[in-house]
Amino acid sequence: MKKIVIILSSIIVIIFVVLMIFLFNTNSKNKDIEDIKEKETEEVKHNDNEFSKYSYYKMENLQRYKSYKTNNPDLSVDDVITRVNLNLDKTVYTDTMPSSNLNTNYLLVNKFNYLDNNYIPNNLELLDNSYAKSGIYLVKEAKDNLEKLINEAKNDNMNIRVVSAYRSYSYQENLYNNYVKNDGVSLADTYSARPGYSEHQTGLVVDVTRAFDDFNNFENTEEYNWMMKNAADYGFILRYPKDKESITTYSFEAWHYRYVGIDLAKKIKASNLTFDEYYVRYLESDNN
Ligand code: DAL
Ligand code: ZN
Repeated sequence: MKKIVIILSSIIVIIFVVLMIFLFNTNSKNKDIEDIKEKETEEVKHNDNEFSKYSYYKMENLQRYKSYKTNNPDLSVDDVITRVNLNLDKTVYTDTMPSSNLNTNYLLVNKFNYLDNNYIPNNLELLDNSYAKSGIYLVKEAKDNLEKLINEAKNDNMNIRVVSAYRSYSYQENLYNNYVKNDGVSLADTYSARPGYSEHQTGLVVDVTRAFDDFNNFENTEEYNWMMKNAADYGFILRYPKDKESITTYSFEAWHYRYVGIDLAKKIKASNLTFDEYYVRYLESDNN
C-alpha cells in the first residue's frame, strides 16, 4: 500500500512539473509573439510619414529629417532626406567615415567620407605632356577618356590643358596647410579639402584651364562653355557647381571635373544633381 502511494504521488509530481513547463513555454511564446507584433506596429508607425515613400529614406534618420524640415520649411521632402543622408545637418569633418567603393567610378569623397592616408588608386598612369603639365597622373580609364575629350575639343578649336589630377595624401596635406597659413582655416575650407578628404586622391579628377591661362579664369572662357556642353559625353561632370555650394560645401570651381564613367555622367548631368546628391539617392543602396 505504501508503495502504491509513493508511486501515485511521484506520478502526480511529474504531471505537475510537465504541466508547469508547458505553461511556461506557452507563456514565453506568447510574449515573443507580442514583442514581434509591437515592433511591427512601431515600424509601421515610423514608416507612415511624409518621408517614407522615398526609396532613399532611412528609418534611423527620421528624427533628423523632421528637425531639418522644421528648420528649413522651404525645402522639399526629397531634398531634406538627401541632405540629412549626406550628413549636412551636422558639422563638416565630424561623424566622418571611410569611403566605400574604393577603386570604382562610384567612389564618393567629401567632407564626411575620407580616404586613408595610404590609399593610392590602382592603374594610375602618367599624362602625356601634350595634355598636361609634367608629372601628372590619372586612373587609366579616366585618362583614356580625357585624352579623347581634349582631342575632340582641339577639333573644335578649344585648347584644354590639365594642371592638376591625382594628388597623394601628403601632397594634399602640404597644399591645405599652406592655404591655411595664408587664409586661415575657415576660408581655406571653402576651396581646399583637408588631407584624406580630397577627391584628387581618387585619381579620378582633373583641374583644367585654357592652355596656358590661369585656371581661376576658366569660367570666362569658351573652353568652359565647351566643357559644360560636352564633358559628360566623355564621362566627366562639373563637381562643384555654382548654385550648389550649400550641398558640396565648396565654392564653385569651374575647372574641377570628376570622372564617373560615360553612362553615369550623362545621367547625373540630366538630373541636375551634384554627385553627392545623386550618390545618396541612387548609388548608395546599390553598392552597399
Ligand atoms: N579644391 C578641391 C575641393 C580639393 O582640394 O580637393
Ligand atoms: Zn580640383
